[in-house]
Amino acid sequence: MAVKEEFRQFEMEVGEIVEEMRSFTHEGSVATYIPELRHADPGTLGCALYTKNGTCVSFGDGEETFTLQSVSKVVALALAVMDSGEDQVFDKVGMEPTGGPFYSIARLALMNSSKPLNPMINAGALTVTSMIGGRTEAEKVERLLRFIRELTGNDALTYDSAVAASEFRTADYNRALAYLLKGEGVIDSDIGIEPLLDVYTKQCALSMSCCDLARIVFIFGHEGRSPETGEQIVPAPVARMVKTFMVTCGMYNESGELAIRAGIPAKSGVSGAILGSVPDGMGIGIYSPALNEKGNSRAGVELLKRLSRHFQLSIF
Ligand code: DON
Repeated sequence: MAVKEEFRQFEMEVGEIVEEMRSFTHEGSVATYIPELRHADPGTLGCALYTKNGTCVSFGDGEETFTLQSVSKVVALALAVMDSGEDQVFDKVGMEPTGGPFYSIARLALMNSSKPLNPMINAGALTVTSMIGGRTEAEKVERLLRFIRELTGNDALTYDSAVAASEFRTADYNRALAYLLKGEGVIDSDIGIEPLLDVYTKQCALSMSCCDLARIVFIFGHEGRSPETGEQIVPAPVARMVKTFMVTCGMYNESGELAIRAGIPAKSGVSGAILGSVPDGMGIGIYSPALNEKGNSRAGVELLKRLSRHFQLSIF
């Protein structure tokens, strides 16, 4: 089959799978603890694939925009390691999965030292965000925006200020975690906790489409290099480390099951976003806001499993 024909066949098959998976959206519910997220349409399912020939194809509601939420934790981790160094970051945050929910305070408080178990739970992510380069809150946000624009190739990309403000107003759990971490000497942010929460909520509110998401993860899957110029955007060892965290902790207490059923390094957010990395292959961006009981996109998880089975994408 000619390459073009083969690609058209591939597109058709993905399109059919996406529409088939849409029925799962009825089994989940949209997150409401960040008030602004409750406006999302639970029936939405979009997907985009960033492929090796440097093009992005989107399916279903792939053109919709959404906020990253916890997906931003992979971006912030890469940036903090680039800015502050691996030793400094992992002196403060561990590398072990928790098997628990992302917001847990008990898990943090019950540890011998209050070092958060990993950078994908909120306690770890707040600590990581404090290590993004910049002397002020505005400099850290600017640093983050510059990085995300480089990763997506989208110079207009920014955060959704309504979602950021909505989370900042209601971030009682994260506020408690951040003050506890400061009390324990884990966070020693010189900008103070409230400004740190401001940076964190803007980071979580970074707003984009499935294609932006797919390009970010395509870069992580290709040793951190720009798909157009080959320029090193993320050092290769950092890209590898971030993908490993995606496998062990990216889907919280569903990480083990997803590793077995899909075998695609992935990271989810409560907005319903998921990114998935097929190393040396496609970057997958998914958005579907109806969540399962573990806080992961219900249809999104099914779609990832199905794509993996159909096209044999497991890394294992
Ligand atoms: O910090 C929070 O609670 C949210 N901004 C992000 C949480 C999240 O996306 C967890 N993922 N499933």
